[in-house]
Amino acid sequence: MTKGIRVNGDLFTIMISERRIKARVKELARQISKDCTGTVPVFIGILNGSFIFFADLIREITVDCEIDFLKLSSYGDAKISSGNVQLLKGLNCQVEGRDIVIVEDIVDSGLSMDYIRNLIMRQNPRSFRIVTLLYKKDSVKTGIHVDYVGFSIPRDFVIGYGLDYAQRERNLKAIYRLKRAAEASNKSKREEQSP
Ligand code: PRP
Repeated sequence: MTKGIRVNGDLFTIMISERRIKARVKELARQISKDCTGTVPVFIGILNGSFIFFADLIREITVDCEIDFLKLSSYGDAKISSGNVQLLKGLNCQVEGRDIVIVEDIVDSGLSMDYIRNLIMRQNPRSFRIVTLLYKKDSVKTGIHVDYVGFSIPRDFVIGYGLDYAQRERNLKAIYRLKRAAEASNKSKREEQSP
């Protein structure tokens, strides 16, 4: 198994292996399926980062369900925070009266999730839940409640399994952390470079 990789000269070491991700995804799906028994929830994936987690999770869900996607731009391609979350793709499903499960790859500052929550709650769902594979407990700035967390992680810059490094490396099967301490957080790295 590859323990470390180099991307643009930076060394990344493995943080969460493919085996651990698979096992945790199954556990999350089991719990969510149990909590959604008797309903037909709508799973909403947040593009782009959640696409691999979403695909793996949904195949382990054992209740009838629907899917949809939202695409947001909070930071864009540049590593500079705009401070604004913009909606690039809205929903096609009806939210009112439905049981909604938001599927995220990572909650970092929590700003994207705050935006999503406000967007969905305005449409009167019957229930609203959030599942995220990764949760940066020391970075979250909002009071957002996350119902299901795959892994609680420190403020490392992480890539793989959907998470990008300047849009690349999303196809890595495991999650890797940047070893260099100067770039310790995905978002703080971006914010440091803000004008
Ligand atoms: C990432 C990630 C989350 C968001 C979390 O998306 O997929 O949606 O950032 O960060 P926050 O908690 O600080 O708001 P990004 O904007 O990088 O786009 P991507 O999903 O296309 O990579």
